[in-house]
Amino acid sequence: MPRLQLLDSKEQVEDLGQTGLRPARLSDYIGQPGVKKRLGIALKAAQKRGEPLEHLLLFGPPGLGKTTLAHIISREMGSNLVTSSGPAIERSGDLMGILTNLQEGDIMFIDEIHRLPRPVEEFLYSAMEDFQLDFVVDKGAFAKTIKVTLKPFTLVGATTRAGLVSAPMRERFGLVYHLDFYPPEDLTVIIQRSSRILGIEIDAASAREIAERARGTPRIANRLLKRVRDYAEVLGNGYIDQEITQKSLHLEGIDPAGLDAIDLALLRTMVQIYKGGPVGIDSLAATLNEEVDTLQEVVEPYLLKRGFIIRTPSGRRITELGLAHLGLL
Ligand code: ADE
Repeated sequence: MPRLQLLDSKEQVEDLGQTGLRPARLSDYIGQPGVKKRLGIALKAAQKRGEPLEHLLLFGPPGLGKTTLAHIISREMGSNLVTSSGPAIERSGDLMGILTNLQEGDIMFIDEIHRLPRPVEEFLYSAMEDFQLDFVVDKGAFAKTIKVTLKPFTLVGATTRAGLVSAPMRERFGLVYHLDFYPPEDLTVIIQRSSRILGIEIDAASAREIAERARGTPRIANRLLKRVRDYAEVLGNGYIDQEITQKSLHLEGIDPAGLDAIDLALLRTMVQIYKGGPVGIDSLAATLNEEVDTLQEVVEPYLLKRGFIIRTPSGRRITELGLAHLGLL
C-alpha cells in the first residue's frame, strides 16, 4: 500500500473514480497484448531470481493505463508503491527524501518523467544505476560529497512524450514499453468488466457503441459509461440500451467517431481559419485558446491515429478523411 503520495492536483483529480475499476493483477488487465506478455515474463523472471524488477519506462497518451500498470507491478511483486510526478519533484532534496525511505524492492512511480527538472534528473542517474546518491553538502571551499547507499528499488517512469525523455535517461531503463490506443474490441470488454463492478446493466451493442466513441482510451470509456449510467437512471429505468446510449452521448457532445468539442473545434479551425493548413501548433493553440501541451499530448494523438490530420515539416494539415468527417467532402 502507498506510504507516501506526492502528486500534483491534476493527477489526483484524474485518479478520482478510477481506483475501483483498475485491474489489480496482470491477469485482469485487458488489451496491450505485447506489453502484457513481456511484462509477465519480466515479473516472473524477477520473482524467480528474488530480485527487484528492472527499471521500466512506459510511453503512451494519457489514460491508457500507465499508472494502472505501476499499481499492478507493485501488487505482483508484493512491494510498496510510491507515486510522484516530474513537476511535483522540484528539488533534488525532495527526491532524496523519497528514495532514502524506500524498502528493498519498492516501486517508485514517476509520472510525466519528461518534466523532471534537469538537476533532479541528473541526480536520479546514479540512484538508478548503482543505487547510490551523491549528495553535496556545504558550499564553495567547504563543499563535500556524501555518498548515500539506497536499497535496490524499481523506478517506473511514465511519459506521454517519447521524444522529450533524454537519451541518458532512456538508456537507464532495462524495460521500455509503448502503450497504444486500444481497439474497440478491447474497450468493449473493459466496459463490460467495469459494468459488472459498478452493477450496471448494459446490452452488448451499447458497450460496443461506447467503446467506439472512447478515443481508444480506457479512462474515457469508463467516464462515458458513468455518464450513460446517469442518463439511464434519470431518464430511463437504469438499463443501458442503444437508444439511451446514443441520446446520452449526443448530449455529452461526443460525435459518432468519439470526437469531443475540442477535437471538432481544432478540425474546424484548421479549415475555417487556416484553409486546411499547414498550420503551426502555436497558432492553433492561440486561436483555440488552449495550451500547446494539451493539444500535443491529449488532442492531437488520436486525430493523427484516425488519420483526420497529418503532421508535415511546415505544420499540421487536415486530411480528406478529416474533411469528410466534418461533412465537407
Ligand atoms: N480499466 C482501465 N484500463 C483497463 C485495462 N487495460 N484492463 C482492464 N480494466 C481496465
